[in-house]
Amino acid sequence: MLSTSELTKNFGSVTAVNKVSLEFQPGEMVGIIGRSGAGKSTLLRLMNRLTDPTDGQVTYNDENVTALRGRDRRGWQARCAMIFQQFNLVPRVDVVTNVLFGTLYRQSALVSMLSLFSREDIAKAVEILDRLDIVEHAAKRAEALSGGQQQRVAIARALMQDPQVILADEPIASLDPLNAQIVMQTLRRIYEEDGRMIICNLHTLDTARTYCDRVIGMRNGEVVFDGKSTELTAKVAREIYGAGDEFSEETTSTSIDSLASGGAEQALVSA
Ligand SMILES: Nc1ncnc2c1ncn2[C@@H]1O[C@H](COP(=O)(O)OP(=O)(O)OP(=O)(O)O)[C@@H](O)[C@H]1O
Ligand SMILES: [Mg+2]
Repeated sequence: MLSTSELTKNFGSVTAVNKVSLEFQPGEMVGIIGRSGAGKSTLLRLMNRLTDPTDGQVTYNDENVTALRGRDRRGWQARCAMIFQQFNLVPRVDVVTNVLFGTLYRQSALVSMLSLFSREDIAKAVEILDRLDIVEHAAKRAEALSGGQQQRVAIARALMQDPQVILADEPIASLDPLNAQIVMQTLRRIYEEDGRMIICNLHTLDTARTYCDRVIGMRNGEVVFDGKSTELTAKVAREIYGAGDEFSEETTSTSIDSLASGGAEQALVSA
């Protein structure tokens, strides 16, 4: 079980994450929603140990993750992989090598520099690319792939670490609707077939409702909703996003759009 206890992060006078206590069970697919600046990215970065909390702690199976330093912290980051909106691939390097970079946490820098990846790792990388339906692009430079394909390469790199937890920060925010669907289906498959815990920051309500069983709503650094996606009614959504506030273009999904005019209320409640 992954949990946060009174987790808090201040940036100067801004409290990005405010006393957040959450529990995540193995094999859960969770969506985190909330307007821009709500603290979604900071929460994931704290859980991954990309940033240190001002207060509170992160625990995984009774291990205090917040206290891990150096090699142990990198070990946690291998078990808890992170996927980003901008893929974070090395653009001029081929796809297989990008996936093999997922093994760096357990290689020495010298071995990595000399590109001495083991045959076994190369075979595993190819197998993962095949599983994600992008093996035919294995030899191409990452930059030659579409956004959706690049994000699947990033997921393949994460799988190379054989992580127990995958944290995805707006993994589909830069993708067109079709590629967004493929990437979300890929994450859902990994959750269903491998039983990995997946926690995903998402911009739109409808994506969270379609792919996640549990949704967490954040507002001003706090958790204001934590429940089944079926419990995400229009009233709850308004509370998360701020009643009467203008939804930004980016935040506006089809559901939120019609939500603002009240049209999707029935759909949201009944779905
Ligand atoms: N490195 C930083 N330095 C200073 N302030 C920061 C930093 N990172 C985040 N913040 C602030 O913390 C708050 C939460 O930011 P965060 O990026 O976690 O929100 P978010 O919910 O991910 O927003 P978005 O939907 O735009 O990605 C914001 O007020 C932001 O300006
Ligand atoms: Mg963010």
